[in-house]
Amino acid sequence: MSLIAPSILSADFAYLAQDIQEVEAAGADWLHFDVMDGQFVPNISFGYKVLEDIKPHTDLVMDVHLMVREPDHLIPEFAKRGADIITVHYEAIKDLPQTIDLIRSLGCRVGLSLKPDTQPESLEPYLSQLDLILVMSVYPGFGGQAFIEETMESTAYFVRQRRIHGYQYLIEMDGGISPKNAQRLSQAGVDVLVAGSAIFGAEDIPEAIRQMKETK
Ligand code: DX5
Ligand code: ZN
Repeated sequence: MSLIAPSILSADFAYLAQDIQEVEAAGADWLHFDVMDGQFVPNISFGYKVLEDIKPHTDLVMDVHLMVREPDHLIPEFAKRGADIITVHYEAIKDLPQTIDLIRSLGCRVGLSLKPDTQPESLEPYLSQLDLILVMSVYPGFGGQAFIEETMESTAYFVRQRRIHGYQYLIEMDGGISPKNAQRLSQAGVDVLVAGSAIFGAEDIPEAIRQMKETK
């Protein structure tokens, strides 16, 4: 069974606290917090003020996904306001070791993400230092896109490397995930499933979460 991380990008921002409490009550494990800068991705979402405001309303693990070019100046702000995990993009940063050290020095878990076209081998030098690898299964920027099947090859690579070398990272996938493919991803070794539209757009949110956690 994988952990479920609803992405609040697909929540109704006018009712954010209620939406979050609803997924928490329904058994969600983490809360996925998509930060977009309009530069690294062609969309703008929200920043650390929103994190600060929602933090008192939930006990869920705060899984912050920074789709931001050169985010070092923002990372301390997210850490201060309650991020538990901070994930940055391989393609967005020149000095990755420095960013990894910065996140760790602030007491947060360190995640590294890659776009669907990035070769998973490019992340090899960093694997031993990571707590989380976030495999993007859509091109980052928007919710509601279709799952890109080829990204399963990246996931298989990270599962394999973890087994061979004994790395400790969790593997998370993000984009186009729903009760339809959740089971298959869990079986492939994905530890954390992010879902936005399939959860917040569901008629019955608890049922959608229950189905995604189901193991046969
Ligand atoms: C996309 C974001 C995702 C997004 C997923 O750039 O990183 O977290 O919210 O949305 P769905 O589940 O609708 O594909
Ligand atoms: Zn995300």
